Amino acid sequence: MFTIDLTDKVAVVTGGANGIGKAIVDALRHSHAKVAVVDLHPSGRNTERDLFYIQADVSNKENVEKMMEQVINRFGKVDILVNNAGISTMDYLVDIKEEDWDKTMDVNAKGVQLCSQVIAQQMKKQGTSGKMIHIASQAGKNGYRLMGSYVASKHAVIGLTKVMALELAQDQINVNAVCPGIIETSMKHRERVLGGKLRGLDEEAIRQEDASQVPLGRTGTPEDVAYVVMFLASPFSDYMTGQALNITGGMTMN
Ligand SMILES: NC(=O)c1ccc[n+]([C@@H]2O[C@H](COP(=O)([O-])OP(=O)(O)OC[C@H]3O[C@@H](n4cnc5c(N)ncnc54)[C@H](O)[C@@H]3O)[C@@H](O)[C@H]2O)c1
Repeated sequence: MFTIDLTDKVAVVTGGANGIGKAIVDALRHSHAKVAVVDLHPSGRNTERDLFYIQADVSNKENVEKMMEQVINRFGKVDILVNNAGISTMDYLVDIKEEDWDKTMDVNAKGVQLCSQVIAQQMKKQGTSGKMIHIASQAGKNGYRLMGSYVASKHAVIGLTKVMALELAQDQINVNAVCPGIIETSMKHRERVLGGKLRGLDEEAIRQEDASQVPLGRTGTPEDVAYVVMFLASPFSDYMTGQALNITGGMTMN
């Protein structure tokens, strides 16, 4: 009775080739969904019937429109969108480079808007209910040193979540965000190296500092995030919309 079964559902996962996105793709497939993996660098080949890799940049409108066409040609519809693609840059606010700011906002905020827009149009056309899940961050609720562009972009994602939830509620499209804390992926590795350089610390010192900040005593895994996303993709969350759920081991409670 409490199994998540997504047989006949079609999901689109952006940034699904690595890290959190890949764990979400694996979990969706485990629940029998058909999955389109949209990534700048898709890591797989299109040899399986229910798994479709699409190369696209989520911050590029033409790419996103073409991606939508490819998904429809392949699977005929979309039921679930997971806006996961994201990047981070690090610098002190006084030193942020314009191109870093623009790139971060383009991928993390505009990318969510572009993908959600084409998929909301498609879901409305289908006349079916749908689920949209944005991978925001606890940086969408708090400030963090060295993360000015990223923090701004993730606050934007949570704002968009609320507006989309209101505007799409009449179509029975639920729009929610998740806010991961410190999750062990290649993005986190890059942040430790870069943050370490800026702060004069080595990566290991930052890793220990990270773990010490988490009430549950450990940093997170991509699967920790994927399981909550699965709940939001399933009928068990039908009465939830416009929420931003923390997955932080207790690090963020607001
Ligand atoms: N790792 C963490 O600690 C953490 C914490 C909070 C939120 N997040 C968010 O989770 C999401 C996934 O992060 P991750 O840690 O798995 O990162 P990651 O770098 O390991 O993976 C990101 C994936 O997104 C793809 N991607 C990047 N830019 C893209 C673009 N323009 N178009 C299409 N695909 C693109 C990359 O190729 C990669 O496959 C991001 O939105 C990130 O901000 C991560």
